[in-house]
Amino acid sequence: MKRLTSGLLLVLALGLLWLGAVDLGSRFQRSPSLILAHNMDTQHPVHQALLRFAERVNQGTRGRIRVAVYPNGQLGNEREVIELLQLGAVALTKVSSLSLETFAPGYAVLNLPFLFRDRDHFFASLDGPVGEEILAQGVSRRFRGLAYYDAGARSFYAQKPILRPQDLKGLKMRVMSSPTAIEMMQRLGGSPTPMAFGELYTGLQQRVIDGAENNLVILVQNRHGEVAKHYSLDEHIMAPDVLIVSETLWQRLSPADRDVFRAAARDSALYQRQLWQDLTRKLAVQAEKMGVIFHHPDKAPFIALARPLQDAFGVTHPELRHLVDAIRREQERP
Ligand code: GCU
Repeated sequence: MKRLTSGLLLVLALGLLWLGAVDLGSRFQRSPSLILAHNMDTQHPVHQALLRFAERVNQGTRGRIRVAVYPNGQLGNEREVIELLQLGAVALTKVSSLSLETFAPGYAVLNLPFLFRDRDHFFASLDGPVGEEILAQGVSRRFRGLAYYDAGARSFYAQKPILRPQDLKGLKMRVMSSPTAIEMMQRLGGSPTPMAFGELYTGLQQRVIDGAENNLVILVQNRHGEVAKHYSLDEHIMAPDVLIVSETLWQRLSPADRDVFRAAARDSALYQRQLWQDLTRKLAVQAEKMGVIFHHPDKAPFIALARPLQDAFGVTHPELRHLVDAIRREQERP
């Protein structure tokens, strides 16, 4: 709460500075920096990539536009920061597509369990027309997607192995506050418990929750593997991280500056995806040193229970069904 209050005060003070006073033209060479807030640690590949984005924007605008990166959820959790961005108090953020689905339902498509065959299928979909259409979905909600980052595949970790869906029965499993993630957990038989990312380590340590689900980078870098030793690789969801920009800011940028932002976002995403691959190759060893035990469950029973969510989504969201279909068609390509 203390963190949040001071974070909000800081953000409002800084946000008002850029909202009211930043001249993005050439007259003021030393205007205040734009705020880019996110909730990852500074070691995380996303943080490195966001620093690179900031550098590219600065270079591309010859120092006219500067971006200051605030990591570690200093300015609030993902949901809070998205709200601040909609208000125009934060300029940019990187959040999970799981956090975005309640703001723009198109992002839910990317959160559907077992939709992507592998990493190649995932990025072929994101970097094509489907990904583009989803990035544009937030515009009427005052944010615009700029790029997709790799956030791997999410799997379960708990005090015990999750080898079959029955193993989730009676377990309080932390999920992100995403209707898709909540429904998936219900279908698999666990008890979904939404909780902010910043509270997760303590939640696991104090056994407020029995387990969670995330990628290997979080398990190791955020040290969740210290307090939940069994990592069961069912890889149920591949939800990307997304760089979004406030529509208030976007409308104030010149066409040339928008091009700089787009190019910087693309460059930053490609850089992050490479960093991610290099890092994940090394992390299994670190996880084992931390005492993590890896399990490779048979995915079939998890798929049988969770995949019907894809068709159910098409029924509740007929206007988005073509996106699910397009991703499936991409999957069929050799
Ligand atoms: C992923 C994602 C984060 C998100 C986190 C979570 O690691 O990259 O953006 O906050 O999951 O589970 O909350």
